Amino acid sequence: MLPKVNPTLTSSWKKLQQKSEELRNQSIVDHFEHGDRVQDYSLSFQNLYLDFSKNLLDDETITLLQDLARECKLDDAKEAFFTGEHINETEDRSVLHPALRSPRGEKLIVDGEDVNKAVWTVLDRMAAFVNDLTEGEWRGFDGERISDVVNIGIGGSDLGSVMVYEALTPYHSTGITCHFVSNIDGNQLHEVLQKVNPGRTLFVVSSKSFSTIETMTNARSARKWLLEHGAQKSDVAKHFVAVSTNEERVTEFGIDRKNMFEFWDWVGGRYSVSSAIGLPVMCAIGVNHFHEFLEGLHEMDEHFRRTPLADNIPVTLALIGIWYNNFMGAETEAIIPYYQYMHRFPAYFQQGNMESNGKSVDRTGAPVDYETGPIIWGEPGTNGQHAFFQLIHQGTKLIPCDFIGFAQSHHDAGDHHQILMANFFAQTEALMVGKSHEEVLNDLRKQGMSEEQVQFLAPYKEFSGDRPTNTILVKKLTPKSLGWLVAMYEHKIFTQGVIWNIFSFDQWGVELGKKLANNILSELGQDQSSGKHDPSTTNLLKKFNEWRS
Ligand code: F6P
Repeated sequence: MLPKVNPTLTSSWKKLQQKSEELRNQSIVDHFEHGDRVQDYSLSFQNLYLDFSKNLLDDETITLLQDLARECKLDDAKEAFFTGEHINETEDRSVLHPALRSPRGEKLIVDGEDVNKAVWTVLDRMAAFVNDLTEGEWRGFDGERISDVVNIGIGGSDLGSVMVYEALTPYHSTGITCHFVSNIDGNQLHEVLQKVNPGRTLFVVSSKSFSTIETMTNARSARKWLLEHGAQKSDVAKHFVAVSTNEERVTEFGIDRKNMFEFWDWVGGRYSVSSAIGLPVMCAIGVNHFHEFLEGLHEMDEHFRRTPLADNIPVTLALIGIWYNNFMGAETEAIIPYYQYMHRFPAYFQQGNMESNGKSVDRTGAPVDYETGPIIWGEPGTNGQHAFFQLIHQGTKLIPCDFIGFAQSHHDAGDHHQILMANFFAQTEALMVGKSHEEVLNDLRKQGMSEEQVQFLAPYKEFSGDRPTNTILVKKLTPKSLGWLVAMYEHKIFTQGVIWNIFSFDQWGVELGKKLANNILSELGQDQSSGKHDPSTTNLLKKFNEWRS
């Protein structure tokens, strides 16, 4: 069980409120005058370096935030999590994604099951399957090797695989190309099917529940397409495998049990990329690289589990997030990777954060009267600079940002990477330092403008600065370092959920949406509305039905 502490009733919460009044109008730059801020406000983990000095906080703030974590019993919560207690209380389940990447033989018995053994049995089956594909042991209905894998899944059964597949593009080594179909919008499936050869395509139907309407509809359409393109019913087994927790539904769909890769109800969808849900990734990067990714995840799991608060990277990020979210009035956080291969990373952690901590009832069943999960968003740099950075620099909103960059590039032709990283460093500096009225006046005068023009333009060209950032600098993007980054953010989310006293591992809000869509589905194409909707929805359904015919 997780502790149930209302964070606002702790003594550190009240002190943090006072502290925020004191710091609100101070300048981050001034804080560099005290002590060795760069040294004191940075943490290292192997070749990952976190600089959090460009934040509006001081030593006392950090101590109080760490006290808050202690008062909310973070250590007890971590222990309950890693040892398999049913911390997902509303579904009465353990939450054990760290067990998906623990080394072979590291025994963990949960609810009478040897979890490590079960995990490695599936990982070994996945490896054997990928070897069969790449060595041509597994072939399509016309005897050809498989060249394309189409993953059909949505949410946690899609975003993680897409993100890792894209991030690890330089490690694609098997000759297999992956495609991802998630949306119920048939246009997405249509476009993918245009690109692949039926005899050489394998569909991986990924769904924890095997009942999600988007995934099941896409899977049925893909099967129909295969049968219309030369395959016989008996060939379907060569072209469809499933990743799921639900054996009954998988076999009902017509996929043989031996072509199912299982995972377990203790793996949340948005934390499942290191389970069999990562099968498409393994198909593309090969078994060894996939194992390296798991090693990276495990190393960060261990860091999070065993490192004291003050040196703990996920905890530090979580506490800084809480500082801005609960004491400084920030409503959003941006994740900005300066590496194009990482372009789906913000979207992946948008689900990770917002589905986990988008909650407003605490662990005692009472409504919360404080802020919980922030809005998470982002795009890669430098593209973002030419899109939304204007608002971060000069808008009225406070938007703390995580900048993620890599010292080495995979394709360092010419000076591309130097320019990319020059922007990376320049932005965090500019966001903090800003540009004063005096500096702007000087610049404009140097350009030879009239004093009238100078005075007119100056207010628009000033930057207040004091826009906070974390810099996460990694030596190189590899399967292992990607594992560190993924586990780092997963545990940040966990830590924040513990402190906000909410359940981070259910998603009842999304479940409701699924039911409502099913109700309306039965009415589309009907002449008469059921009359069960509000006037706006009733009218929209009428309009839609008119335009459809
Ligand atoms: O979107 C809600 C959700 O329940 C996610 O949590 C999950 O990742 C996704 O749907 C897909 O569910 P499934 O894997 O069961 O198809």
